[in-house]
Amino acid sequence: VSLTRFNTFNLPSVAEQYLPLTKVEQLSDPVFNVAPQLVLGGGSNMVLLEQIKGLTVHVLLGGVEILGDGAQGAKEVEKRNGSTGYHLPSVHLRVGAGVDWNQLVRYTLDRGWYGLENLILIPGTVGAAPVQNIGAYGAEVAERITAVHVWEYGVGARVLSPEECAFGYRDSRFKHEPGRFLITAVDLRLNGDHELKTSYGAIQAELARLAISEPSPADVALAVTNIRRSKLPDWFFLGNSGSFFKNPVVPKETYNRLKARYEDLPSYPIDENHVKLPAGWLIDRAGMKGARDGQAGTYALQALVMVNHGGASGQDIINFSKKVQQTVRQKFDVELEREVQLIGWKG
Ligand code: EPU
Repeated sequence: VSLTRFNTFNLPSVAEQYLPLTKVEQLSDPVFNVAPQLVLGGGSNMVLLEQIKGLTVHVLLGGVEILGDGAQGAKEVEKRNGSTGYHLPSVHLRVGAGVDWNQLVRYTLDRGWYGLENLILIPGTVGAAPVQNIGAYGAEVAERITAVHVWEYGVGARVLSPEECAFGYRDSRFKHEPGRFLITAVDLRLNGDHELKTSYGAIQAELARLAISEPSPADVALAVTNIRRSKLPDWFFLGNSGSFFKNPVVPKETYNRLKARYEDLPSYPIDENHVKLPAGWLIDRAGMKGARDGQAGTYALQALVMVNHGGASGQDIINFSKKVQQTVRQKFDVELEREVQLIGWKG
């Protein structure tokens, strides 16, 4: 089965065996005593090589369920942006792993359930969201997760608490224990009157441009939508998997050395001895923004995003990404670590 239309990079790849997972009951089949070669959600954070040997499981588990305790949290709050007040319950949802993430965000916002507005337009599925703890514009999905439902290969169904998931920056236990769990559903707590996260500079600038001084969650979603559309490519038109590298965390000394030479180097403090640097800035300043080699390249408006201009293979993307890493290493002596997963075999 061809996986080309199941990955947002539009990379050509063939699965030896393909199994759509539409019901959790299927997991009791002995085939799930061990991990399949590939568990595919939205295919938005991976580079697929030509062949996937063995079994590929496509997670298509649907459903959004409102859990019983949601109504008890009901609260009346004033809509900050309008004259009429309205009821916004706090709500607890159980969402199937195969649900499209962005559709969930829009579904919740439409119902007045807030908390996911900063995470609008992130490609991929609900089941993939906890794996790399998706985040954008000052928010992370981990802040909303109350439980992750999994199938532990060879063991059975389990429910993991947020603590057990060990969430970090673009990180979780699921990344460190590959082949142990398949995520079947995620529980999320959303509120009516939580504080909006608007401190991120780009959001403030966009809200100011829109002349919105007291934003509602829908306004924040609109601002994030505008920002993303202005610098992140739509994979439907230009294959990509979002940020290709992580933003590197470097020792303070490295930061000081670079800052002395590059006064405008942006940075985010991590702790007393470490600083996070934007990989996009490093790639940009190394002269690689919008660069390409055949059909593989970096995006002209956001250097951290690698793109498939059409017809590139997974190997082409990897080869070019190595060139990017090498150029950044030569110029800044900083290592870029891949954020996306590399899957399969070539030839
Ligand atoms: N920058 C440049 N040139 C570029 C790109 C960025 O100079 O080509 C500079 C920007 O001017 C800014 C800084 O680098 O000063 C950071 O850029 P930006 O705000 O665009 O964010 P980012 O660090 O590149 C991260 C996430 C994105 C997320 C945005 C917004 C990672 C690896 N990436 O990108 O996440 O949307 O912040 O919160 O943390 C993803 O993970 O797939 C993803 C898109």
